[in-house]
Amino acid sequence: MCGIVGYTGKKQAKSILLSGLDILEYRGYDSAGICIEENGAFALCKASGKLERLREKSQNHVFSGTCGIGHTRWATHGAPTEENAHPHLSSDGSFSVVHNGIVENAEALRAMLKEHGFSFRSDTDTEVVPQLMQYFYRGNVQEAFLKTVKMLSGSYALGAMSTYEPGKIFAAARESPLLVAKGADRCFVASDAMAFPLEDLQIYSVEAGELAVLSKNGVLFQNTDGEAITKQPIQVERECIQHDKSGYDFFMLKEIMEQPAILAKLAQTDMGKLSLSDELVQSVRCVHIIACGSAYHAGLAGKRFLESLAGVPTFVEMASEFRYRSPILEKGDLVIAVSQSGETADTIAAFRYAKEKGAATLSVVNVLGSTLAREADGVLYTDAGPEIAVATTKAYTAQVLVLYQLSLHLAEKRGRISLEESQKLKEKMKKLPQKAEKVVKQAEEIRKISEEIKNVNHIFFIGRGADADTAAEGALKLKEITYIHAEAYAAGELKHGTISLMEEGTPVIAIATQKALYDKMRSNIQEVKARGARVYAFTPDAQIAREADYALYLPDTDEHLGSVLAAVSLQLLSYYTAIGKGLDADKPRNLAKSVTVE
Ligand code: AGP
Repeated sequence: MCGIVGYTGKKQAKSILLSGLDILEYRGYDSAGICIEENGAFALCKASGKLERLREKSQNHVFSGTCGIGHTRWATHGAPTEENAHPHLSSDGSFSVVHNGIVENAEALRAMLKEHGFSFRSDTDTEVVPQLMQYFYRGNVQEAFLKTVKMLSGSYALGAMSTYEPGKIFAAARESPLLVAKGADRCFVASDAMAFPLEDLQIYSVEAGELAVLSKNGVLFQNTDGEAITKQPIQVERECIQHDKSGYDFFMLKEIMEQPAILAKLAQTDMGKLSLSDELVQSVRCVHIIACGSAYHAGLAGKRFLESLAGVPTFVEMASEFRYRSPILEKGDLVIAVSQSGETADTIAAFRYAKEKGAATLSVVNVLGSTLAREADGVLYTDAGPEIAVATTKAYTAQVLVLYQLSLHLAEKRGRISLEESQKLKEKMKKLPQKAEKVVKQAEEIRKISEEIKNVNHIFFIGRGADADTAAEGALKLKEITYIHAEAYAAGELKHGTISLMEEGTPVIAIATQKALYDKMRSNIQEVKARGARVYAFTPDAQIAREADYALYLPDTDEHLGSVLAAVSLQLLSYYTAIGKGLDADKPRNLAKSVTVE
């Protein structure tokens, strides 16, 4: 989703901004731009499409300035055109702004500004911001920025500059992540810590109700009454991700292949360090897992673990729906937010709502120091390292494993299973990484299946129990990066309607890792085959494999974790299908890695 970068210091800003934007590219965008202050005016360069176009266009100008802002835009209001790309300037050209989020009252503000003679160049909600700064400016940029921010409803992360006060960047945020970093003789602003250069920096998060003023001499924080405030730097993950595909063609493949090692590391995690009190762990009445997309699917796996192992009733909620159905939250409820980025706007909004209602909170996140990590009562890190491909792979399986371990921990603490039993399950869990290794070694087999399905228009994923949840994840992955319409169905539910879609040659991916459900799965496979479906079974079971048209043998494992192995194989299937279709597996169309708007 949109990304902000900004720099003020002694060096020329252009290459610093472009490098920052390069790193933010993985978040997803459809246009980009930079604005650099030069001799009392702004030099602006914007381009629709990929960053290469911006780089090319920016060569037509020298850009000697040392203070600037840049942006990658993921269109919400207005098409992804050059006019709509950020930065946006005020009518008189003296204010320049980049923005992430949505100004929900933009229409009303536009109307008001038009009445005062302002005209607009773009269709964006953002353009009202520099115009308001111009409108409010009476000799003090900071005051104009503050007044502007107070007018905005909705979510925002803002970086602004003015030709009236060269060398300064003004930053503010509400419900959208924004970080500032202070180094020697320079300051940076960015929506993601990875965009900061790998040098010694003090990093601060800009919170709602705060304003940051950056200059080469440092950063000043104020509240909305203009009073100075003191802030503590935060710890965030910063790794050089830019070109580190470790020899793989795509980050997605690299990240899939990293899974055995990540699962091995996680299998050693000591849940005893969980920062929730023992009292809460023992008294939890029920759990609400809130998450989006793949993280929601990990939540479904978590529900099965928490209920079957720890005996805790668990509800899994799509975060985007949570607040709109008056959820019942009572004392003793634990809300778990699951998120790779820790910055998903829907999840954050649902999470804050639950906090307001007094629920205890835990987050299962991948990105160190992210909003969900900072705001929760307890954090469990998935520790999968930076995930760059838009389609999540390693973070998803890590989420599932962390939720499994949490469930074992609760089960032990609540006396649902003996220490001996728990130990046995942990021993089995420790074998998961080597089994995942066997799955990734089957890449060539999986690639062959991808050749068969790459040209279909529709495909079904079916499974029962935990495999039904994995089917949902497999279908999402395939849709995301191959643009093939995929539908996931609980296999037993097919006959209640969807089976009418089966006809000669309909491809069906059947996932069967749960021994107790093999017989039932066989019947469901027979049902679709009888209607002409071509079945690809992903299973450790020889009999199911024989009944399918094509089988991928999965290693046999503990009933709780078999579907993790199936998920890894389905990730590879999506990857090879995308590659077979000549698509960019890392950056699928229309999608963003970190979805920071609701
Ligand atoms: C999965 O491949 C997705 N790209 C998407 O569904 C993602 O899982 C979802 O947007 C949630 O993101 P988060 O884990 O960062 O909160």
